[in-house]
Amino acid sequence: MQRIEFIKVCSLVCLGGSALLESCASSNYYALYSSSSTQITVKKSEFVHHKTDEIIQRPYVLIKTEKHKYPLCVYKIDDNKYSALLMRCSHKGCELNPQGDYLVCPCHGSEFTNTGIVQSPPAAQNLTTFPTTTDNENIYIHF
Ligand code: FES
Repeated sequence: MQRIEFIKVCSLVCLGGSALLESCASSNYYALYSSSSTQITVKKSEFVHHKTDEIIQRPYVLIKTEKHKYPLCVYKIDDNKYSALLMRCSHKGCELNPQGDYLVCPCHGSEFTNTGIVQSPPAAQNLTTFPTTTDNENIYIHF
């Protein structure tokens, strides 16, 4: 391979890699929140990602609290309905990976809907969920 071809290939690999990293970073976004002993408050605006010239709606955000060993995954079902799921697999406790509108267990492949319903074994139980309420500006996750 000639030097100029090598440089072109390396540039394309770097561009592809950075696009992939940016894509991953924007999909697994850890939201800002405030908390009390009984609830977490997340602004609805945390589901909006402003890129340079476009606005992207996030299907979910993640929340890492001191109270829970596993992160919470908060899915936007519609403007006034959100689900809050503990990202702990109900099979043997591995941490789940959100993938679009469902979650997958990296250990044995169980899958769950964005409301925590088990879809694929070996898990047999639904995820731990937390009730949510909303107003015009915020989502409240209750413990
Ligand atoms: S721990 Fe998740 S499928 Fe086994």
